[in-house]
Amino acid sequence: MKKIMLTGDRPTGRLHVGHYVGSLRRRVELQDTGDFDDIFIMIADAQALTDNADNPEKVRQNIIEVALDYMACGLDPEKSTLFIQSQVPELCELSFYYMNLVTVSRLQRNPTVKSEIQMRNFEASIPVGFFTYPISQAADITAFKATVVPVGEDQMPMLEQTKEIVHKFNSVYGETLVEPKILLPDNEACMRLPGIDGKAKMSKSLGNCIYLSEEPEDIKKKVFSMFTDPNHIRIEDPGSLEGNTVFTYLDAFCRPEYFLEFLPEYKDLDELKAHYQRGGLGDMKVKRFLNNVLQAELEPIRTRRKELQKDIPAVYEILRKGSEKAEKVAAQTLKEVKAAMKIDYFADEELIRAQAEKFAADAAE
Ligand code: TRP
Repeated sequence: MKKIMLTGDRPTGRLHVGHYVGSLRRRVELQDTGDFDDIFIMIADAQALTDNADNPEKVRQNIIEVALDYMACGLDPEKSTLFIQSQVPELCELSFYYMNLVTVSRLQRNPTVKSEIQMRNFEASIPVGFFTYPISQAADITAFKATVVPVGEDQMPMLEQTKEIVHKFNSVYGETLVEPKILLPDNEACMRLPGIDGKAKMSKSLGNCIYLSEEPEDIKKKVFSMFTDPNHIRIEDPGSLEGNTVFTYLDAFCRPEYFLEFLPEYKDLDELKAHYQRGGLGDMKVKRFLNNVLQAELEPIRTRRKELQKDIPAVYEILRKGSEKAEKVAAQTLKEVKAAMKIDYFADEELIRAQAEKFAADAAE
């Protein structure tokens, strides 16, 4: 079976370091293994509109931001198809048929939908489009016959729902769709990178993000304002790692070679952590180290982004070509889906012939 990766993001803002360690970095690594027959990276503008219906301008303006972040991180249009969801109308058609295979109560039980409804104060009146977006996400994934979907943990319920739709479809209409596998980040810190304030989620509205395109001075300011252990007051005090954002970020970003480069008096992160817990290691020193690490990680991304920003029409052209290719692939799947559902009347010569015979026989009687 072919190996196909598909994933994507809603274009509601620039991408931040949480996106990077949660999924982006992995996508680029996977892309560069050359193991995949096809890779599709989607800017999910239609999905973003399900909870931003009154603000299409926000979505429109952020498509380019996400595309720039993607390419700055190393997603390469020569190896991965970058496309815009709304430009592949076949996805809507697939969603429409999948809707018949999902119940309202099943959608109501989807944990991601549940928590997002709360977050957006939709309890009293949920837009139907928003309520059904897990179904459209199943269309995104199955249209490309994706086998691997690298996403954050919050997307797990979406993948579960997709698998259910695949099983239901295949059992009702015959083997047609491919079951995807979710690929989660491999460590806890990457799975759920907190904001710089230590709050569980990094989000624009909380103002606790470090963006991929952030300038060096701002990265530094943010690192030095990070939440640590509030009881670690004097350097000699023993410190706690639990909920200590600086160490969580080190877990997510630190590579062994950074010790040699920036903090040669420690062998590795375990040694640094042990010293902090024992007492005698100040927050400032750890923050200085984290700042060096983040600067080293983000500098190449920022530089590449600035280069890409010089030719915006070229980026749109990449998205246009990618969307064209994506549409061809989705159209082929849609054709197979419609054939499986027996709604391919004009292509079904057997149907036309058999009915012609039946009516002819009726007339001869
Ligand atoms: N739900 C994803 C997000 O909020 C975006 C998305 C839409 C997606 N369709 C997808 C991710 C298909 C993976 C596969 O970021």
